[in-house]
Amino acid sequence: MSNITFTMLKPDSIRNKNTGAIIDKIIKDGFVIKAMKFTRMTNEQASNFYAIHKERPFFNDLIEYMTSGPIVAAILEKDNAVNDFRTLIGSTNPEEAAEGTIRKLFAKSISENAIHGSDSNENAKIECDFHFSENEIF
Ligand code: RTP
Ligand code: MG
Repeated sequence: MSNITFTMLKPDSIRNKNTGAIIDKIIKDGFVIKAMKFTRMTNEQASNFYAIHKERPFFNDLIEYMTSGPIVAAILEKDNAVNDFRTLIGSTNPEEAAEGTIRKLFAKSISENAIHGSDSNENAKIECDFHFSENEIF
């Protein structure tokens, strides 16, 4: 599934009224929405999703942030989806993100950075399955 990636518009994007602008940018960049939902993660869900970071000093803040409000979760399709989407969202730290990237435009800080994108094809599959069942994907 090298043509699929998973994204979440994080709670700050919804709070700052950037949902529409970000989705528009994703579509205009050539990604096709295969699934999308407006939802809020529980503490347990966020802890599982970010389990890879559980030893990191920012883990508790990350879970608090990711559960602080609703998110928009989506599955996106495009050739080379994972890499192209990471390019579109920009560096984790918005101060280092390239001009025109989603994090440069919409993120406030490294910890509240507007959007998630899968970092490998393997993780994209795991993350899509984490948030969506078969009958929610079109
Ligand atoms: P993501 O998984 O959300 O797409 O972000 P990423 O790959 O660019 O960055 P990653 O290293 O996976 O970190 C996951 C999220 O943790 C928060 N973070 N805070 N305060 C900090 O130093 C720090 N570092 C990371 C961010 O929300 C980051 O996106
Ligand atoms: Mg990551």
